[in-house]
Amino acid sequence: MSFNESSQSVPTNLIWHHSVVTPDQRQLRSGHKGAVIWFTGLSGSGKSTLARAVEEMLFQCGCQTFVLDGDNVRHGLCRDLTFSPKDRQENIRRIGEVAKLFVESGTIVLTAFISPYRADRDAVRSMAAENEFIEIFCSADLQICESRDVKGLYKKARNGEIPEFTGITSPYEVPLSPELTVDSGSASSRDCADLIVKEIIRRGIYSPDLIKKNSSDIDQNQNGRK
Ligand code: ADX
Repeated sequence: MSFNESSQSVPTNLIWHHSVVTPDQRQLRSGHKGAVIWFTGLSGSGKSTLARAVEEMLFQCGCQTFVLDGDNVRHGLCRDLTFSPKDRQENIRRIGEVAKLFVESGTIVLTAFISPYRADRDAVRSMAAENEFIEIFCSADLQICESRDVKGLYKKARNGEIPEFTGITSPYEVPLSPELTVDSGSASSRDCADLIVKEIIRRGIYSPDLIKKNSSDIDQNQNGRK
């Protein structure tokens, strides 16, 4: 049975089990909220690089983080999906559900997927609470992405070896009102990552002071136990 068939049957007789640990308790321990940082843009626009750079910065600050990356997820969870519009939609739906679980666990999850369709990105956004979803548009012209061609896929797509390649034979719908646009085509990764971390702080997902306070509380508790 394909996912399309199975998703048509609405499950019944299921009851939602609430976690005994509340989001506030998780936040108190970690010093930050759970949130989705959703990177979108063409292949080669810098999504994965930036997601990893931002993760590293947050992790070094004591945050609980995880990166979900298109190429990796398509090795496992989404290995049955092609790049047709319908399968891309399903890809993003699944990632949205996984990201939601990460948010529930109090993690700052950074997702790096082309996610070319506005409707699919909006559907994922609608699953999150306000200020728990930050859409980052990695803005880089096709020409620049193609000249980078880190994976050699644009060349193959131009040669007709890869069907439905985003930007060449498949569309990319530019976000209309992302929380942040970074000029990943020409600005340095470091500058873009700094802007993104500032946005995460500005939106109250985490405050460096709170992290420092929490870790000193933990230190004190540990010293007290010695
Ligand atoms: S999405 O459109 O469904 O969001 P996703 O981010 O998971 O795409 O995967 C994109 C990655 O798959 C690209 O970075 C590229 O390495 C690879 N890829 C392989 N075929 C295609 C294709 N037809 N279009 C775009 N990317 C492709």
